Amino acid sequence: MKTPGQPRKIAAQMVFHVLDQGQSLNSLLGPQLAKISDPRQRALAQELTFGTLRWCYRLEAVLNSLLKKPLKKKDRDVHALLLVGLYQLLFLEMPPHAAVSETVGVVRQLGKEWAAGLVNGVLRNAQRQSSALSESVDGTESARWSHPDWWVKRLQQDWPQDWQHILEAGNQRPPMVLRVNVSRTDSSAYLQQLKQAGIEAELSPFPDTAIRLEKPVGVDCLPGFYDGLVSVQDGAAQLSASLLNLESGQRVLDACAAPGGKTGHILETVPDLRAVVAIDSDERRLVKVAENLQRLRFNGELLAADAGDPESWWDGEPFDRILLDAPCSASGVVRRHPDIKLLRQAGDLQALSQQQQRLLDALWPLLASGGILLYVTCSVFKQENSDALRVFLDRHHDAAELPLRVQWGKVLPVGCQLLPGEQGMDGFYFARLTKA
Ligand SMILES: C[S@@+](CC[C@H](N)C(=O)[O-])C[C@H]1O[C@@H](n2cnc3c(N)ncnc32)[C@H](O)[C@@H]1O
Repeated sequence: MKTPGQPRKIAAQMVFHVLDQGQSLNSLLGPQLAKISDPRQRALAQELTFGTLRWCYRLEAVLNSLLKKPLKKKDRDVHALLLVGLYQLLFLEMPPHAAVSETVGVVRQLGKEWAAGLVNGVLRNAQRQSSALSESVDGTESARWSHPDWWVKRLQQDWPQDWQHILEAGNQRPPMVLRVNVSRTDSSAYLQQLKQAGIEAELSPFPDTAIRLEKPVGVDCLPGFYDGLVSVQDGAAQLSASLLNLESGQRVLDACAAPGGKTGHILETVPDLRAVVAIDSDERRLVKVAENLQRLRFNGELLAADAGDPESWWDGEPFDRILLDAPCSASGVVRRHPDIKLLRQAGDLQALSQQQQRLLDALWPLLASGGILLYVTCSVFKQENSDALRVFLDRHHDAAELPLRVQWGKVLPVGCQLLPGEQGMDGFYFARLTKA
């Protein structure tokens, strides 16, 4: 059943919770969208939420120039609704009268009748002056690229040639990408199954396990999803398993494993490993690893523990391979998680890089001689990537880089950076180390 204004109301609530309460979109999305029964209305709420957050820095600048004075703290729900309204008018091909009238209708549902005239006036002005407004907000980099100022500056420093492409890629809608379970089928065969199910898709140039869908669909529509034939995972994340040079009989540690995307891929690549130990410090997220492995029909040893404190969980047997998919800023995947731009602060990078060094230091003694440790982040900031690895290599003389020799990405002093948007993929960093 269609309830007028409901998608806008739910979207504005999610935007408000991210902006004013620092909540992550991941935690909000499930419960909020579940309030909408009609699938098309649900999709609209999702689009409005992601789009508003993606373009939030730009929309805030536009709103600022349209309001005589900022709304009071108690009316920040109306502020969030105005951002959602502006997103519809400035970024979506939607009849303006519908966008305005349905947004004004939500004000009444919020019990803030007094704001109806204000919302109506602001949105009508935005509609009338849209090109002049666009031009005027382009004057500040944060509004122009819709990213925080510190983020733009850091990219300019780290990537003087590529920073604009990185910012543009961060504002795109991401494709839905599948990883085919090669222990059960192959990409060409699965592509045929998709075609038969009426789902348009194409093989990705690499990795050879990746299939890109023309349009996102619910996993319920994917043939064999619940039998483990396929998983949802960006192509960049799918590059990790092959970089580990896995072989039968090895003992493998996945140190920061949840929700288990890479754990599953490791097992699909070489199902007869001697052991896979998957650790995550977040017990609730570890449940997702269990569910994913169960769906793929694999077993692993799952531990809820701090990977940086091996004394509390390690049995003393070295690992042939260690994957450290480290906690990071996630700056390479903002197109999938636009709330990160609003939640992450410049000061977080220092704490993250200390945590990354701590994990590297703690896990290094667990690697067997001649073994491989693959360090991965979904960040584009050098402080979390090649700079961190340089510091680590300078302090550990039994560690050497094992060059990646790949056909993608930018080779850095240590490791390799896949910039967001390259071959349509997320931004990831990889460095491979071996022990003398
Ligand atoms: C980038 S995510 C891992 C994604 C996962 N590898 C995948 O492919 O699905 C990083 C994970 O590290 C976990 N984490 C953070 N600090 C940790 C620690 N000290 N020990 C273990 N896990 C940690 C977080 O809970 C989070 O699940």
